[in-house]
Amino acid sequence: MTRFAPLQNDLLLRALLRQPVKATPVWLMRQAGRYLPEYRALRERAGSFLALAKNPALATEVALQPLERYPLDAAILFSDILTIPDAMGLELFFTEGEGPKFRRPLKDEKTVLALTPPDLAQLQYVFDAVTQTRVALGGRVPLIGFAGSPWTLACYMVEGGSSSDFHRVKAMLYDRPDLMHHLLATNASAVATYLNAQIGAGAQAVMLFDTWGGILADGAYQQFSLNYMRQVIGQLQREQDGARIPVVIFTRGGGQWLEDIAASGADAIGLDWTVNLAQARHRVGQQVALQGNLDPAVLFTQPEVIRAEARKVLASFGQPELGVGHVFNLGHGIPPNVPPEAVSTLIEAVRENNGRKV
Ligand code: CP3
Repeated sequence: MTRFAPLQNDLLLRALLRQPVKATPVWLMRQAGRYLPEYRALRERAGSFLALAKNPALATEVALQPLERYPLDAAILFSDILTIPDAMGLELFFTEGEGPKFRRPLKDEKTVLALTPPDLAQLQYVFDAVTQTRVALGGRVPLIGFAGSPWTLACYMVEGGSSSDFHRVKAMLYDRPDLMHHLLATNASAVATYLNAQIGAGAQAVMLFDTWGGILADGAYQQFSLNYMRQVIGQLQREQDGARIPVVIFTRGGGQWLEDIAASGADAIGLDWTVNLAQARHRVGQQVALQGNLDPAVLFTQPEVIRAEARKVLASFGQPELGVGHVFNLGHGIPPNVPPEAVSTLIEAVRENNGRKV
């Protein structure tokens, strides 16, 4: 018996498992966030992004905000990928306009070797947000849980924040592969435990954000990023309450490694906008579903252009009724300064093209 209301819209879960669907499901990365005035108002009330993310009731409210505006086919947990290193003691904080930072980054061998798996009790706010969001959805659409990939987490942990070139973390990879493997193995076990706890708390699909996998050289990507995502996937609980939990891998800039990613055990690959969808399908065959991949910059154009570009993405995938396994999304997150009306236009265009009521 499930603790939750029955799911009324299973388009996302079916498409991720390459089952036939009446229409292509659509959701957008970063669908909850700064482009929405109601998000900015709630963040103001909470005091900061982290205060919002660490309060399960507020995180639930934020996760539902885009669904109140748009007929989306999925909700995504409102949280961040950097919750894990924060709970490992690196102390996450945000400075206005500069993105995430750690007070205690991994600056040398000693700090890397001293790293221990996070205490799950310190991440309880995330699992509570998952359960509360799932309850609040009442079965309208499925809830996606997520984590950063072990490599992408390592990037932030070693650099201490965002970087334009990631030279520190890449130097560590080349200089001390042993140390890098130690860090990645620690992250992989933390990510697997964390995602399993999200699944236990009510997440109905999970996604690995490998935002910085694409900065790696060929060979290094397989060894230092994909290999550890494969380890995570191997440890995941793939069924909950009788339903299969699909797993999506999104490596930004990963277009040249699609065959490798398809063989990782994931059910679906998230594609950035540089990838040709028809060619991607040809390369991976029927092994995995594909999610993507409209260029987010299209959201800054006129409605006619948004509609035409959305139709192009849909046309390159073929018929949803045939079980082609396609989930419409952007190729990366919604930029913070997108007009909310552009998102309306996009969602309507996708639905119209599928013969759904807008
Ligand atoms: O709606 C959703 O997609 C769910 C929420 C979500 C957030 N972060 C909220 C957030 C998700 C899925 C993430 C993942 C995430 N976080 C990634 C991987 C996805 C990607 O974009 O490639 C990464 C690299 C991070 C790390 C992170 N967190 C960065 C780089 C930033 C700053 C980004 C910026 O635009 O300033 C954050 C902060 C963050 N996470 C915000 C949100 C809504 C903005 C915080 C704010 O100012 O309100």
